[in-house]
Amino acid sequence: MAEADLDHVLPSYLALVPPTRIFIPSEIPFEKLHRSLLEKILLLAHANPYPPSPDYQQAFWKWAINLLEGLIANDTDLEIDERIYERYTSLMMLGHSHLASFAPPQKGYVTYVWPKDDQAVNHGGFEGYHSATLLESRALVEQGTTGLRTWGASFALAQYLLENPKEVWENTVLELGSGTGFLGIVTSVIQTEYNTHTQLWLSDVNSEVIQRCWSNLRLPCNTSSSHPSLDVLSLDWSWAMPDSPEHSQACALAQNLHPDVIIGADVVFDPSLVPPLVATIKLLLSVDAERPSDRHALIALTIRNQTTFDLFMETIRNEGLIIVEKAVNTERLLFGSNKVDVGDVRILYITLGDVEDQKTIS
Ligand SMILES: C[S@@+](CC[C@H](N)C(=O)[O-])C[C@H]1O[C@@H](n2cnc3c(N)ncnc32)[C@H](O)[C@@H]1O
Repeated sequence: MAEADLDHVLPSYLALVPPTRIFIPSEIPFEKLHRSLLEKILLLAHANPYPPSPDYQQAFWKWAINLLEGLIANDTDLEIDERIYERYTSLMMLGHSHLASFAPPQKGYVTYVWPKDDQAVNHGGFEGYHSATLLESRALVEQGTTGLRTWGASFALAQYLLENPKEVWENTVLELGSGTGFLGIVTSVIQTEYNTHTQLWLSDVNSEVIQRCWSNLRLPCNTSSSHPSLDVLSLDWSWAMPDSPEHSQACALAQNLHPDVIIGADVVFDPSLVPPLVATIKLLLSVDAERPSDRHALIALTIRNQTTFDLFMETIRNEGLIIVEKAVNTERLLFGSNKVDVGDVRILYITLGDVEDQKTIS
C-alpha cells in the first residue's frame, strides 16, 4: 500500500475535519498507520506553537486509538506508543476542567494547506504545501460577530484566485469583511510566489475581528508575516451610504486606497447590510471612473436564503453595476484535503460600465 494513502490525514487534522470523516483504508497495516499518526501528527513541530483546540484533539486521538486498537486485534506483539495514550489522557483532564467552567467552544489554531508545485519547505515548515494558520473560533457567532472563523465562500474565492493568480499579483487588492484573514494569507502567498507584493488591504467593521486578523497575518508561520505592503483597516460599509455622517470619510478612503480589485467572501448574509455593501462596492469602483481601468470586484457568496441573494443582485443592477458570474470548480477545493463542502457558492465579477461590456467578460 503506497504511503500516499495516508497523505490526507495530516491536512485533515490541521483543518479540524471531524475524524469520522477522515478516510482510512480498511486494509491498512497497523505499523503504517501507527507510524504516520505518531511521527506526522503527534510529533508535528508546527502543532506546538499552533495547536488545534483541545476538544478537537481529544476527539481525534480517541478515534485514532480506537482504530489502532482495532488493528491490533489479538496480535500481542503490537503495541500503541505510550505517548499517544498520554496525549489523550492529558486532553481528557483538560476537557473536564473546560466542561466544569461552562466555557464557550474552545478556540484553537486551524491550518489550511494546499499543494505547491515544488517540494520546498514553506514558512510553516510543510514540505510540498503552502499553508495558512489562523486562530479561529469554532462557534458560528462569537462575541456578536460572524468574523472570528473562516467561511466556505472564502475557500471558493481562494480557489478562484489560485486558478487566476493574475487577479492579485498584478493588482492592488482590498478585501471587504475580511474576518480572520484566510484570504489575505492566500493572496500574500500568491503575491510572494510571483514576487510582486502589490499593496494588499484587509478591512472589517469589528475591532475584535480586525485585531485577530492582524495577529493571524503576523504569525511567523504565515507567508503574510513578511509581506512588505500589507495593512488591516477599519471600514464600515454603512459609511458609503449617501446620508451617512461618515460619507465624506468613506469617499476620502476610496480615493486614498483606489484598489484595482475589491474582494469579499460571505459578505451577503443580512438583508439590511445589502444596500451599504453595494454602496461601498460602487464607491470603490467609481474612483477615477473617467479614466479607463479594469477595476472590478470579486465577491463570493453562499446562497443560504434566495431572497437575500436576489436582493443583492437587484440592488447591484439598480446601481447600474454589471455582474458576471465566474465559474469555480468547488469539487477541487483542497483546503484541508478532505473535499470541503462549501454549499451553493457563486463568484460574482462586478464592474462599472455599460451593458455592452458584459459580453466581453466571460
Ligand atoms: C460571514 S463573515 C465572513 C468573514 C470572511 N470573509 C470569511 O469568508 O471567512 C462576515 C464578515 O463581514 C463583516 N461585516 C459585517 N458587517 C459589516 C459592515 N457593516 N462593514 C464591514 N464589515 C462588516 C463581519 O465583521 C465579518 O467579518
